[in-house]
Amino acid sequence: MKVLLLENIHPVAVEVLEARGFEVELRAGSLSEEELLEALPGVQLLGIRSNTHITRAVLDGAPDLLAIGCFCIGTNQVDLVSAADRGIAVFNAPFSNTRSVVELVIGEIIALARRLTEKTHKMHDGVWDKSANGSHEVRGRTLGIVGYGNIGTQLSNLAEALGLRVIFFDTADRLAHGNAQRMRTLDELLAKADVVSLHVDGRPGNAGFFGEEQFAKMKPRSIFINAARGMVVDNESLRDHILSGHIAGAALDVFPVEPKAQGDEFQSVLRGLPNVILTPHVGGSTQEAQEEIGYFVAGKLAGFSLEGRTELSVNLPAVLAPAHVAGHRIGFLHINVPGVLAGVNGVLADAGANVTGQYLSTRAEQGYVVTDTLDPLPADALAKLTESEHTIWLRTWDA
Ligand SMILES: NC(=O)c1ccc[n+]([C@@H]2O[C@H](COP(=O)([O-])OP(=O)(O)OC[C@H]3O[C@@H](n4cnc5c(N)ncnc54)[C@H](O)[C@@H]3O)[C@@H](O)[C@H]2O)c1
Repeated sequence: MKVLLLENIHPVAVEVLEARGFEVELRAGSLSEEELLEALPGVQLLGIRSNTHITRAVLDGAPDLLAIGCFCIGTNQVDLVSAADRGIAVFNAPFSNTRSVVELVIGEIIALARRLTEKTHKMHDGVWDKSANGSHEVRGRTLGIVGYGNIGTQLSNLAEALGLRVIFFDTADRLAHGNAQRMRTLDELLAKADVVSLHVDGRPGNAGFFGEEQFAKMKPRSIFINAARGMVVDNESLRDHILSGHIAGAALDVFPVEPKAQGDEFQSVLRGLPNVILTPHVGGSTQEAQEEIGYFVAGKLAGFSLEGRTELSVNLPAVLAPAHVAGHRIGFLHINVPGVLAGVNGVLADAGANVTGQYLSTRAEQGYVVTDTLDPLPADALAKLTESEHTIWLRTWDA
């Protein structure tokens, strides 16, 4: 099988795929629609980052494509619905950069508590201003984590190791790590936290959820951090609270509007404020995260094409089948209408198949069944399934 990897994907992806028998072609940049239409025939697996756009037209011109790996977090660059309609699985790396974000936030908490941005600016201007005023240790301070998911929980663990007291608020039930304490409401957290750090996801309901009312409820001289999504925070209110001295410092890595291209001007009401760290959405951007993404997505592409596994696919029904180490496997992606599974099992029963495992899942209008059997299914039984009016694709694997 042939793999095409674009946009300087980390070399570890090549290692993972070649070790599993794939032929890998690498290209440094992204490809335009026209270039993709030329390059994709004969390619089974495609790896991209955020600059390659996979449109319906590109998918129409890629008859051999089985799966797309987005070697990044976002998948907006791919027409996911059109890919699903064609049975093409799309994968990404939703949590490969978790640790990188957490390390940035930990660094910022300490930098803001010590007012390092002001101190380093003064030193660069030749001013020696040695003073302990406004500088604090973080030990014993209370960190309030809003959104206790992949990043929030890992931040919780590292922050406790530094001696911070951790409280959190999440709209879902989440297991408290270590000594962290759940707050019943956001207000309860805001009333207690010396540092508030946002780690909520980008669901539409979160747009603007942290504004004037929430800043007003934060403790005087507290610190605010947003490395989650730009659209969740009202930055005008944050500016007012920083200028009034109510908020002692802030760090922002994400913004409601971010420049599109390298070198474009960054415009924000937060520019030029004291003790405010602004970073260009680099929370997850480290060499280690890139390597982890390369390893993770390459593994997902290989697992799908060699074993029919779709767990963590962002557009097909997610089936976590065990490693395929013995016997035969049939993967059947179909339109999700009542009776299809009974039909599949009818064909298996008629063929006298000895089923050793069956795993299934549905998503939107599709269903996916993975069936492991002791012996290969006879050709006429496979043909019955392939020819069913509900079939999107049927694939088989021999261990
Ligand atoms: N700055 C960066 O470079 C960078 C990198 C990676 C992720 N992120 C962002 O960080 C955020 C967190 O990522 P994650 O992987 O931990 O996500 P996640 O989905 O694992 O966790 C999000 C958590 O927030 C909770 N939540 C959602 N809305 C809430 C609300 N209004 N109040 C309280 N809790 C709420 C959810 O229940 C969930 O537990 C995401 O928005 C992600 O896009 C930023």
